Amino acid sequence: MFGVCYYPEHWPESQWHEDAKMMADLGLTCVRIGEFAWSRLEPNPGEYDFAWLDKSVATLAGAGLKVVMGTPTATPPKWLCDLYPEILPVDPDTGRTRGFGSRRHYDFSSPIYLRESLRITEVLAQRYGTNDAVVGWQTDNELCCHDTALSGSELARQAFQDWCRRRYGSMQKLNTDWGNVFWSMEYRDFTEIELPIGAVTETNPAHRLAYRRFSSDQVVNYHNPMVEMIRQHAPGKFITHNFIPMNETAVDNHALAAPLDFTSYDNYPLGRTDLLMTDAPTEELRRYMRTGHPDFATYYHDQTRGLLNRGFWVMEQQPGPVNWANNNPRPAPGMIRFWTLEAFAHGADCVCYFRWRQAPFAQEQMHAGLLRPDNSKSEAWPEAEQAMVEVAQLDIENQPLQAASVAIITGAEGLWVSDIERQGEAYDFNNVQLSYYSALRELGVNIDFISVDADFSAYKLIIAPSLPIVDQAFVDKCRACSTQFIFGPRAGAKTSEFSYPSNLPPGLLQQLIPIRVLSVETLRADCRESLSWNNHIYESGIWREQLDIGNSDHLEVVASYENAEPAIVRNQRFTYMATLTNRAFLLDFFQQQCQQADIQTYRFGEDIRISQRGNLMFAFNYSQHQQVLPLNPNITVVLGNTTIEPHGVTVWKI
Ligand code: GAL
Repeated sequence: MFGVCYYPEHWPESQWHEDAKMMADLGLTCVRIGEFAWSRLEPNPGEYDFAWLDKSVATLAGAGLKVVMGTPTATPPKWLCDLYPEILPVDPDTGRTRGFGSRRHYDFSSPIYLRESLRITEVLAQRYGTNDAVVGWQTDNELCCHDTALSGSELARQAFQDWCRRRYGSMQKLNTDWGNVFWSMEYRDFTEIELPIGAVTETNPAHRLAYRRFSSDQVVNYHNPMVEMIRQHAPGKFITHNFIPMNETAVDNHALAAPLDFTSYDNYPLGRTDLLMTDAPTEELRRYMRTGHPDFATYYHDQTRGLLNRGFWVMEQQPGPVNWANNNPRPAPGMIRFWTLEAFAHGADCVCYFRWRQAPFAQEQMHAGLLRPDNSKSEAWPEAEQAMVEVAQLDIENQPLQAASVAIITGAEGLWVSDIERQGEAYDFNNVQLSYYSALRELGVNIDFISVDADFSAYKLIIAPSLPIVDQAFVDKCRACSTQFIFGPRAGAKTSEFSYPSNLPPGLLQQLIPIRVLSVETLRADCRESLSWNNHIYESGIWREQLDIGNSDHLEVVASYENAEPAIVRNQRFTYMATLTNRAFLLDFFQQQCQQADIQTYRFGEDIRISQRGNLMFAFNYSQHQQVLPLNPNITVVLGNTTIEPHGVTVWKI
């Protein structure tokens, strides 16, 4: 399926009919509307105006289109902010209130804002819940985008105190768990507890982890009743949310996704490439600035699919230059079609372009749409047309999701720990996870992102790039399956309350790999040392642990540091990497691990990515050069050619 994001309130009513007709003629099925329209739905307190939305829904339905209704809670209107200034959040870094004038200006800890959100959600759901044209719902918009997960408000402080009371039960437990005897940080009562912000220097990491957990819970507790409210009034209709990457929001996306029917993702490959490659050498960025980095889009597709382990939607697909990255290039010709096919190959059920027509006013006037403000068709239009023909021709949507043999364990706690305890400036949770993912993708391996709660037995190989906090249930589960595990450095390095395990890292994981981390050093990113593996020299850097491997008979030293100390060790099915390495190592090492676990790999070239959905194999050429795919001559190519064009896609059947 295909769709588009549309804002009828931005255009004269006289244009709606023609818009709907053009959408249907283009082959679109779904239109998402409404998600920022609160000031038009309720221009004054309690005074609703649905006439325009009724008409818009009817116009779209009249053209045979299906509506996905957004709830408008990402944009509380001015009157609501004036009536209840307490709904505004406080920037935890500056202590300043984040005011009206853009979006997401609300505090997840405000009971009044929750009440108001439920009220507007209820009236909308009552009105459109059983409307046949409205097939599903999107809650809010990109929850926690623009760094809004944390608030430093007084309401947040009080809610945090209550949260602490519930979690720790007694002051003594909290003081002990956090280690508050250090620097005289002990509290006498829950009402004394501060948010870990605005202090002179570093606040207690345990305190900060609690604040992250609490803030994430606040988001979930705000969102869940909204989902319930829609369910109540819109029986049988789907409910989704358009997620952005967890490394940007820092909330527990698994918990947030739990009540939804499926997850959605907003895919802006060039914007994200520009931001993620800010510090990359010029030539590296230039290489991908019009295509996006080969692994950034699918990295998030796979994570979004993994939240509920089922097909997902791309709710917003970049159609041309955006307005919000540091620099906003035009996509290379063909990339809109390419990204669309790529999303389907990674499990999308629907791709919606953002947005129908470029707005000539306000914040996003420099953001492309399928149409330009003068109604002419933008460069994206013919590419979307082509993608629709090809998706139908390949029947991709009816291909089952590919069962992956390899999984990456992800989760918010690893991200929080790496954010809270920098230790080395170059260690970054997302970079570590992405580098492992990228190497596996360069090997053509399909990957599932899973949480620690997943069923491990479905996988041949599970990799945990950064898993500092584990519990006994996790260890038991690892033991109970026959999967191979690879743990990255820092695994098991913290207790659940952010302290050093008394038996030394990897703490509870010592039950799987009997080693002790004696010390940790971090190095500047450009200060690499050698790592020897398999008679080759690679690199070790950024994060390096010194291991004591005791005298276990089973323990095998897989790779060593320059000084011959063990750097990677294995105990039967469990491998522990005590250091970060480089791309060359990850490629060679993971390839060998995959081969040993009977997982097929392909090494077609740095900028070629292979993906499988059902019995379709896709090759995506991110490079600016034609390349020859080393395919068996007997295979049936169903799209493109074995000589793959720059930014081209080839599909064959297996
Ligand atoms: C998304 C957002 C949209 C729009 C878009 C611009 O993050 O959900 O409302 O702002 O970015 O690229």
